[in-house]
Amino acid sequence: LFMFSHVEPYAGDPILGLMDKHKQDPRADKVNLGVGVYFDNDGKLPVLNCVQKAEAQIANPPKPRPYLPMDGLPGYRAACQNLLFGKDAQVLKDKRVATTATIGGSGALKVGADFIHAWFPQAKCYVSDPTWANHIGIFEGSGFAVGKYPYYDAATNGIKFDELIAFLNTLQAHDVVLLHPCCHNPTGVDLTQAQWDKVLEVVKAKNLLAFMDIAYQGFGEDMDADVYAIRKAVDMGLLFFVSNSFSKNLSLYGERVGGLSVVCKDEAQAKAVQGQLQFNIRRIYSSPPSHGGHVVDIVMNDEALFNEWVQEVYVMRDRIKDMRQKLRDSLEAKLPGRSFEYITKQNGMFSYTGLTPEQVARIIKDFGIYMVANGRISVAGLNASNIDYVANAMAEVLKD
Ligand code: LMR
Repeated sequence: LFMFSHVEPYAGDPILGLMDKHKQDPRADKVNLGVGVYFDNDGKLPVLNCVQKAEAQIANPPKPRPYLPMDGLPGYRAACQNLLFGKDAQVLKDKRVATTATIGGSGALKVGADFIHAWFPQAKCYVSDPTWANHIGIFEGSGFAVGKYPYYDAATNGIKFDELIAFLNTLQAHDVVLLHPCCHNPTGVDLTQAQWDKVLEVVKAKNLLAFMDIAYQGFGEDMDADVYAIRKAVDMGLLFFVSNSFSKNLSLYGERVGGLSVVCKDEAQAKAVQGQLQFNIRRIYSSPPSHGGHVVDIVMNDEALFNEWVQEVYVMRDRIKDMRQKLRDSLEAKLPGRSFEYITKQNGMFSYTGLTPEQVARIIKDFGIYMVANGRISVAGLNASNIDYVANAMAEVLKD
């Protein structure tokens, strides 16, 4: 009877919890700018054409569903590698990269964090201040002490770059530094290429373990520019981790399609790491789901479907950019003398609005506009029908 009486209630997730609250809100003009999910101009979650074509191939004729290998389909793993490192990259020809499919980007972080904690038990983990809340949750869940490195500068809507470099220089060898190669979550503020070069120099000099988490490839500048930091790290001879996700860029959120790659010194090392990743996966969930795995494999390894996919990602990217511009223009018109340039300078799905937790609480209560308490909005939730309503509400809470 008293078995579970000591179990404490869960406060809920700061991001995923917003989906339920938005769903339960009866107001017709409610808006969901919470979770990082791309909606089209009609407010609908798209099913990409390339995905529909791949699914038609899978369905016809119906295919059996055996267990996939622990680390996923070979074509899936190759797809992750080609996108991240470049199809003709020497590091791939040298077979120096261990790659596994994972249950979304979160699964990649978990498998990677467990691996690092097992083999580098002294290492601490450092995340940007601020970061995606689940980075902290996942690494703490794997047994890490998690600290923060200086990043966002609210005064300039930019980066505390000198402080960041000075901080990295204080870390110990093998400490994990979690980096966002593009479309920083939650701020949308990315390092320039020159800044990346400097950060990676410190990572190399101090022998830190970089863990690059990329969930938005293609939503920043383009497929190649968005992985600048990853390819630069390879060129510099670094050995490091990359977690990637197809949730957003294939609009396959619920299929849980992610990947984890580890750049190793040579093929023998990569084989050992690959085996240990399989061992970890077997102990957590055995093997990845098959439907999404096959969709990714088909789209990424067929030239026509791949090209169609890239264009579909750019349509999503450009619509978000258009919404940024419209939101900025509208706020500047409503609040003369104030600059909202930061909205158009930020990259990817998110804008860090600077709204305080109190202002966020008010915009949710008075207007039914859902956003994360730290002031992050998902710009991809804006569309032609709700943008005026959102701009009015933001101007209203910002004006006092
Ligand atoms: C987000 O930051 O909103 C997305 O990455 C979705 C999530 O799992 O939180």
